[in-house]
Amino acid sequence: MNSQVLKPSTYSPLSKESFSRFSEFITRELGIKMPPEKRIMLQSRLYKRLRQLDLDSLDEYEHHLFNLPENSDEWVEFVNLVTTNKTDFFREPSHFSFLVEKTLPELQNGLCRDRPFKLWCAGCSSGEEPYTLSMVLSEYKVAHPGFDYSILATDISTRVLNHARIGIYDSERIDPIAEPLRHRYLMRSKDRDRAAFRIVPELRQRVSFGRLNFMNDDYGIRETFDAVFFRNVMIYFSKETQQVVLGKLCRQLNVGGYFFAGHSESLVGFDLPIRQVENSVFQKIR
Ligand SMILES: C[S@@+](CC[C@H](N)C(=O)[O-])C[C@H]1O[C@@H](n2cnc3c(N)ncnc32)[C@H](O)[C@@H]1O
Repeated sequence: MNSQVLKPSTYSPLSKESFSRFSEFITRELGIKMPPEKRIMLQSRLYKRLRQLDLDSLDEYEHHLFNLPENSDEWVEFVNLVTTNKTDFFREPSHFSFLVEKTLPELQNGLCRDRPFKLWCAGCSSGEEPYTLSMVLSEYKVAHPGFDYSILATDISTRVLNHARIGIYDSERIDPIAEPLRHRYLMRSKDRDRAAFRIVPELRQRVSFGRLNFMNDDYGIRETFDAVFFRNVMIYFSKETQQVVLGKLCRQLNVGGYFFAGHSESLVGFDLPIRQVENSVFQKIR
């Protein structure tokens, strides 16, 4: 086999026909839109997989993949490589202020008076978002005796879920976390050569991670939640898919519970049992 360094230049481009087959699968199974402008992006992600598998051509990969059952390990890897997992600690921070100043006091005196607050972080990527929430809720718990919480965090990518479960982040990733919170909730890696930090066990234990595809007919989640964070996921979906997925997410939300969408995502024009209470924050009304 050729050296891996030489391989990329030898690969032939992803043909329009092959792109159509891949993109049709991605949109049907994952809901993710794949317009023709995404061909080069998909091609470069597939090249990466070819190098890992030491294959010589995209045709070889396509043939290999489409002859496997859709529950095979290679399809799981394919899903890992086609999803975009950009995230950050304390991303879009106004939502966390809203949670602490408005949602939690209201729900602690109402919906969650006699039980823990339950939150679903839907599309959680590598864990920065649910661990941010766990830090925020833990701080609230310290200041408000009697308050308790649990977090369900789901994603379709096994790669990011594995990262999230371990909860180790390089030092540049933790920049958005304020110093007092770093002090309380992060542990310095024992490996002194690696500037990495691990989320403390008390926070990790509060978050249950699971694999879930929003395109599934039945999400298999028997509980309902007091808040759902569904941020920066639906931008990848068509309007029709957004309506279906948002409807299912709303069914998992308790009446009076709060729904947080990404700052650039609009819920206007959808048929949903929610009212807008703030920019990109909604409350379930029936
Ligand atoms: C851009 S990240 C957003 C992460 C986080 N919510 C945030 O705002 O920082 C989008 C996540 O949605 C996940 N995703 C995309 N399509 C999905 C699907 N059909 N089912 C479940 N998760 C999906 C991706 O794997 C990815 O981790």
